Amino acid sequence: MKTMRWGIIGAGGIALRRTIPEMRQTAPEAAIVSVMCATLKSARAVARRFDVPHACDNEKDLLAQKPDAVYIASPQNAHCRQVILAAEAGAHILCEKPMAISLKEVDRMEAAVKKAGVRFMLAFCMRNNVYNAKARELVQAGTIGRPVMGRAQLTCWYPPIPTAWRQDIRLSHGGSLIDMGTHCLDLLEWIFGSTIREVTGFQNRMTHAYRTAIEDASTLVVRFANGAHGIVDNYFNLPDAAAQNALELHGTRGSILGTGTIGQDPTGRMFSILQDKETGYAANQVRSKAPRRREYHLKGEGLYGRMIKDFMASIRTGQEPPVTLEDGRRSVKLVEAIYKAVETKRVVTITAC
Ligand SMILES: NC(=O)c1ccc[n+]([C@@H]2O[C@H](COP(=O)([O-])OP(=O)(O)OC[C@H]3O[C@@H](n4cnc5c(N)ncnc54)[C@H](O)[C@@H]3O)[C@@H](O)[C@H]2O)c1
Repeated sequence: MKTMRWGIIGAGGIALRRTIPEMRQTAPEAAIVSVMCATLKSARAVARRFDVPHACDNEKDLLAQKPDAVYIASPQNAHCRQVILAAEAGAHILCEKPMAISLKEVDRMEAAVKKAGVRFMLAFCMRNNVYNAKARELVQAGTIGRPVMGRAQLTCWYPPIPTAWRQDIRLSHGGSLIDMGTHCLDLLEWIFGSTIREVTGFQNRMTHAYRTAIEDASTLVVRFANGAHGIVDNYFNLPDAAAQNALELHGTRGSILGTGTIGQDPTGRMFSILQDKETGYAANQVRSKAPRRREYHLKGEGLYGRMIKDFMASIRTGQEPPVTLEDGRRSVKLVEAIYKAVETKRVVTITAC
């Protein structure tokens, strides 16, 4: 198979920790031809570490290496500009979440991608966790009955760091919601196969004295088009050792409960308690003594390597990638609606994209 030439725009945290190593491991037909960081010194260090022939601190130099595809993992305030530049250079684009910081940016990105005729995929890679995928399969096969409630949680401990871009609202445009909640919202919509129509909730800077006003606690209540309710909770102020990262899917015929399936690892635990049909009213209120509890033991693969493979397959076959630009637009729209709902203390309705 012909080698696919990749450029990495923003070769920092997630690129170094997950995407580049997993790309190396799982996609031998991918070759990184250039890496870009905010400084040339960092880019050169990355290039040395991963034996990449070219390092730079600007998009022009990277795109001059003629990559077939770019992976954009810079802070989100740079995604729009970089997607447009990459599209104009004819490169296919795998872009980290959140896709952009406003719907206006999404419009500009979409226009550039369409004009150039390149492929675009968004990095909602937590769909690749084998337990999350199994949960979706079970829900969509109707095993929980009619969906009643879904909860997705992702947390970490994230204290003030003077140079962190995430803690500068001008660059991040938000805190735990835009950073972690975007994965959770996407997962619930994807698992239910139903979009979120209404949102409300609370957000606070509860614990950490960040230098700008980003939330370290976000607790949301949502309603899906299928009528189900949802809870999406994201905190920068819970200890990592206590993180549950719960996935809960409840329906009229039972529940699927996961822990640790929402995160960067391809692991987690999950069990279900499901019954074949909705039962009659149990007037004595005695709970079944032998619930139909089933544990799942599934073998997963790296979420980020899989994302790279899926995107390359989409480029080669011309088929839609598993996460689309429209998914990115929905996510940006949801984030805008949620911040508005919290600010105005109202329930905000989200119209179709
Ligand atoms: N999909 C996921 O699971 C996941 C996980 C973590 C981060 N992310 C996303 O990836 C992006 C980067 O996050 P991170 O945690 O890796 O950040 P980071 O700060 O650890 O790394 C960012 C990198 O981008 C570089 N950079 C900074 N400004 C730049 C610019 N204007 N142009 C090009 N490069 C620039 C930095 O030098 C650094 O190498 C964010 O959008 C974040 O939301 C996604």
